[in-house]
Amino acid sequence: MRLGTRVAIVGAGPAGLVLANVLQRAGIDCVVVERQTRSYVEARARAGLIEHRTVEFLRRHGLAERLLAEGAEHGSCEFRFQGERFSIPYRDLAGDRSHYVYPQQFLVRDLVESYLDAGGKLLFSHPVVALDGLDGDRPVLRCEPAEGSQPLELECDFVAGCDGFHGVSRQAVPDGRLRAFSKHHEFGWLAVLAETPPASEQIIYALHEDGFAGHMLRTPSVTRFYLQCPVGDVPENWPDERIWSALWRRLGMTPEELKPGEITEKNVLDMRSFVVEPMQHGRLFLVGDAAHIITPAGGKGMNLAIADAEELAVRLLAHYGGADADALDGYSAACLPRIWQAQEFSHWMLHLLHSPAARQTDSDFMHRLQLSRLAQLRDSATYSMMFSDSYVGAPGRSSEL
Ligand code: APR
Repeated sequence: MRLGTRVAIVGAGPAGLVLANVLQRAGIDCVVVERQTRSYVEARARAGLIEHRTVEFLRRHGLAERLLAEGAEHGSCEFRFQGERFSIPYRDLAGDRSHYVYPQQFLVRDLVESYLDAGGKLLFSHPVVALDGLDGDRPVLRCEPAEGSQPLELECDFVAGCDGFHGVSRQAVPDGRLRAFSKHHEFGWLAVLAETPPASEQIIYALHEDGFAGHMLRTPSVTRFYLQCPVGDVPENWPDERIWSALWRRLGMTPEELKPGEITEKNVLDMRSFVVEPMQHGRLFLVGDAAHIITPAGGKGMNLAIADAEELAVRLLAHYGGADADALDGYSAACLPRIWQAQEFSHWMLHLLHSPAARQTDSDFMHRLQLSRLAQLRDSATYSMMFSDSYVGAPGRSSEL
């Protein structure tokens, strides 16, 4: 079967769905093709910290109704180290910009609903297997759906590769056209999702001699935790009892404060940072995790993906609206400064909180640097203002959609 559209969007994650909703409302024909089923994408628990700029963008497009109704607004976070604790009131320090805590899968659910309710074309269980003609005027995507459906060829003007780090879009660019920058961090994170209410109203970042621990908010009954672990560690090394005792010890909490609940998810994250430049080739535009991945430190991943989608939407509207035929040429250059700024902040946070590997000859020296940074964060108004500005994310783009 062969279909035609203006913009073919590969992937129904935050990036693809935000782009699809904005284009559709602007009357620009688009089709989303997603490898997984609807139930899969709407159940996949990922990020949960939504920056002020992202909330404002979603609100402007009528996509934030449930987020604003059910999400929780947050304006301070807590640091703990050596028996000490202090909070950073980042909303006050960053010009009243705050976060919303709202699980990514809830936002994906809302975005799917909004797009389909408005008549959007979204094909689930349609993995894209090839992207042809990216250097021509009418690229063609080839999808091989699950058995029982016909292969689909989707012809378009432009392709938005919103298919995440392991997608096909970035791979479709001929060798030598993209330059990749990547860093593997020298520790892992055990990511835990537990059916237990949060032990604090704040996100907590704890530096401990055993390693970092993070207490991240999700819903009133579910909490996300992170525990620093060695590179190559596996979830099998972390029975529930070990997880809870490590959390109590590193967060400085008692079992009464942090009640152990059912652990519904535990996996060791590949702590890697990655950026590809440029984020476009011919008629293909790489958006979100397809172009860059970042560690969860600072909660930037989903916000960067949505910011890329906003940037591409603005430029597609300018292109089709006749305002600027070359608008799309500047997509990558417009995104990259924001992406590298987030990478730099995430790297700073990682190295603020993570115990250096014991084998590191300079681990004692690095630990003293950490203590000094935390003390400056606690005591210096300018240092904590800089943290707050980066943590809550830059204000929106100049010309807003
Ligand atoms: N064909 C169609 N769809 C695909 C293909 C393919 N070949 N490969 C991947 N996909 C789909 C995935 O199933 C997924 O639903 O693309 C989507 C990519 O979504 P994300 O990985 O969520 O990427 P993005 O939208 O950029 O959002 C980034 O999600 O992964 C988290 O932590 C990350 O918070 C960040 C955010």
